[in-house]
Amino acid sequence: MCLLCLWAVFLAIEIPPLRQAQGRDKEKASQSWHYYSISKQATIFTMKVALGVTGGIAAYKAAELVRLLQDRGIRVQVVMTRAAQEFVRPLTFAALSGEKVITDLFGAGAEDPNIDSAVEHIAVAQAIDALVVAPATADVIAKFAHGEANDFLTTLFLATTAPVVVAPAMNVNMWENAATQANIQTLKARGYAVVEPDSGYLACGMVGAGRLAANETIVLAVLKALRAEQDLAGETILVTAGPTREPIDPVRYIGNRSSGKMGYALAEAALRRGAKVVLISGPTALKPPSSVEVTQVQTAQQMRDAVMAHFERATIVIKAAAVADFTVRAAADEKIKRKGPMTLELEPTIDILAELGAKKGSRIIVGFAAETNDVLANARRKLESKSLDAIVLNDVSQPGIGFDSERNAVTILTHAGVETVPETSKWEVAHRVLDAVVKVRAERKAPSVRR
Ligand code: PMT
Repeated sequence: MCLLCLWAVFLAIEIPPLRQAQGRDKEKASQSWHYYSISKQATIFTMKVALGVTGGIAAYKAAELVRLLQDRGIRVQVVMTRAAQEFVRPLTFAALSGEKVITDLFGAGAEDPNIDSAVEHIAVAQAIDALVVAPATADVIAKFAHGEANDFLTTLFLATTAPVVVAPAMNVNMWENAATQANIQTLKARGYAVVEPDSGYLACGMVGAGRLAANETIVLAVLKALRAEQDLAGETILVTAGPTREPIDPVRYIGNRSSGKMGYALAEAALRRGAKVVLISGPTALKPPSSVEVTQVQTAQQMRDAVMAHFERATIVIKAAAVADFTVRAAADEKIKRKGPMTLELEPTIDILAELGAKKGSRIIVGFAAETNDVLANARRKLESKSLDAIVLNDVSQPGIGFDSERNAVTILTHAGVETVPETSKWEVAHRVLDAVVKVRAERKAPSVRR
């Protein structure tokens, strides 16, 4: 049998997940947006994780970890230390991941080591959404803790700003050694996630802590690091985003400076955390995530109608849209000609949020409040008067945040307390708002607090 045929049999019989992974890769390549669906889960967010494999007997378990991460739609770039290659051949990981396995800092052994291979660790560091090291030996943990960078994995660790998850595996005495424990504490103190090893029989014949944690536990830690922990699975979240436009005549309108970025970040974050997302969007230049059900609207009235059409099936509503408070009483059918001074007669739009609050039932309703003065008092008044569960206060008098900015700073008010989110990305703000929603949901389930 030729080598190619043997390979085909290997694919078909031994590791069916590889075929799935290859199919997904093709699908990914054809998509400009990073969402897609596979049968196992309704919505999957495609991200790239570097899996560092170091030289321990548990290195073989990393092969299953590749598959489990791929099952969640995550692309895996394997990086092996020299010692790891003594335990498992890079070809195994190449076959499973469908990607070239990185084994050396300067592409030594490669046919043509060049500047690309010399700076590859920087490229990988910038391309990944997380780095997971499993198994992590005492040696690599010490190097991480002391900032040593003498191979691809350790340079990648220093170069990346992505979250890092370390899953140690070693002999119990090595694990319990004060030096290892001090290194682990250093990593934890610097914000790296450590998946504690399990206890049991170890490969060395001893019994105790040091066995690589279950792959499922490592996957959960990776999902948490990626902020894809699926804590909103089962929820249907209706998000509103962007401005509305109230027509004056066929070519003019009353609008506002909302870009939709805050609402789209919420939709994307909720999707990543496992929710089904319905997005009602005013006109924006943004491309909505493909797994989100989107209704595009123009006016406040259209936004109200779209929200009501989807309200029934929503379990959570988050209203980030900047809905016009006034509309033109009688918009002209023809373009208004320029002559003399002109007065527009405006009338209030329907308050969608108040309408939702009045009929919310068991839903969690979150409003936004864009305020310029008496900000806390105004937000609290909206929280109470519209029967909301939370309100996100945006002090839009602050420069550089809020409307049409990449960044935001908010105060989240719930009936249980107030949380300040200092200036950060809208992506992070979105997650903090969703964290607050998860908290409200948990408090509701607690027997003593019912709203
Ligand atoms: O879109 P970006 O450029 O990313 O900017 C984000 C943002 C600043 C628009 C966003 O963070 C924000 O603050 N959104 C709310 C803006 C707003 O309309 O605030 P408000 O205080 O006027 O309204 C309070 C709440 O009532 C909002 O949830 C709003 O959606 C809702 N509302 C308002 C009027 C109306 N007729 N019906 C409503 O439901």
